[in-house]
Amino acid sequence: KRPAGAPDPALARKVTKVGVVGAGLMAAQIALLFARRLEVPVVLTDLDDERLTKGVGHVHAEIDGLLAKGRVSADKAARLKGLVSGSLTKDAFADADFVIEAVFEDMAVKRKVFAEVEEFVSPECVLATNTSSLSVSAMAAGLRHPGRVVGFHFFNPVAVMPLLEIVRGEATDDATLATAFATGKTLKKSAVLVKDAPAFVVNRLLTRFMGEVMAAVDEGTPLAVADHALDGLGLPMTPFTLLQLVGPAVSLHVAETLHEAFPDRYATSRGLAKLVAAGRPGVYDAAFAIDPE
Ligand code: CAA
Repeated sequence: KRPAGAPDPALARKVTKVGVVGAGLMAAQIALLFARRLEVPVVLTDLDDERLTKGVGHVHAEIDGLLAKGRVSADKAARLKGLVSGSLTKDAFADADFVIEAVFEDMAVKRKVFAEVEEFVSPECVLATNTSSLSVSAMAAGLRHPGRVVGFHFFNPVAVMPLLEIVRGEATDDATLATAFATGKTLKKSAVLVKDAPAFVVNRLLTRFMGEVMAAVDEGTPLAVADHALDGLGLPMTPFTLLQLVGPAVSLHVAETLHEAFPDRYATSRGLAKLVAAGRPGVYDAAFAIDPE
């Protein structure tokens, strides 16, 4: 069944090579998923050799993990490792049909990345962004071919979470959107089409939920009490475990984006801001200790 709002699947273009900009944890997970499900070459790029080697190494280690669990055969593991490579320059994307960026959540950085990628790829190559909350339309503005930009937002852990938000920007054309949906299907994700609005849909809900738990702690409820208050509802993990999984900096960024867009509806937690400023993501109790004021 065609997902609500998705264009005619016949418009989808074939994806025979994938580029991933960034080699951080999210990018590495995305690269592995594309290699595993599309079985096409996947090239990662990053700014320096150290990050790139770490990212490709992470993908290879995950493949070893799949092999050890018997999820893939030895042949397939070797094939997958062969499909994933790293490059310091984006000319390696020249024959890619689908490039996804998973770099730092900063509009200027992401726009620069897309402008650079556009220098090397064909006008039909999809430029997808894994942004959690930034405007896809703004990211596409100023490009030569803004119609090929689309939001393609995964959830952590990428290998496990079925959900994929596909975001249509103002300029996104039907062929790009159809290619995004067809790719999501091959990746075995459940894609939903969402509006290009701050934090789209899922992170709006999640930020509200997480924000209220953090506000309770900011206001004096012991962290352990707030974190376990909903245990009986059968959530897959507690809010602060989820915060650790997503990363406090990403969560704060989403909360700030939403606060800017809807100041009366979203606040940012003092404890979360302190946690990120301290740069010690494990020390939640200290960061959320009640402020004297
Ligand atoms: N990477 C890859 N695989 C992972 C993983 C990871 N980080 N964490 C768990 N898995 C795999 C395990 O290997 C296991 O796979 P197998 O069945 O092949 O062995 C499977 O997931 C289940 O794991 P576990 O049995 O160890 O643990 P679990 O049953 O408690 O499930 C969980 C773990 C799937 C993460 C579950 O706790 C869960 O669903 N948590 C909620 C996660 C969530 O809400 N994510 C969305 C975050 S929001 C976001 O990402 C968006 C954003 O923009 C900020």
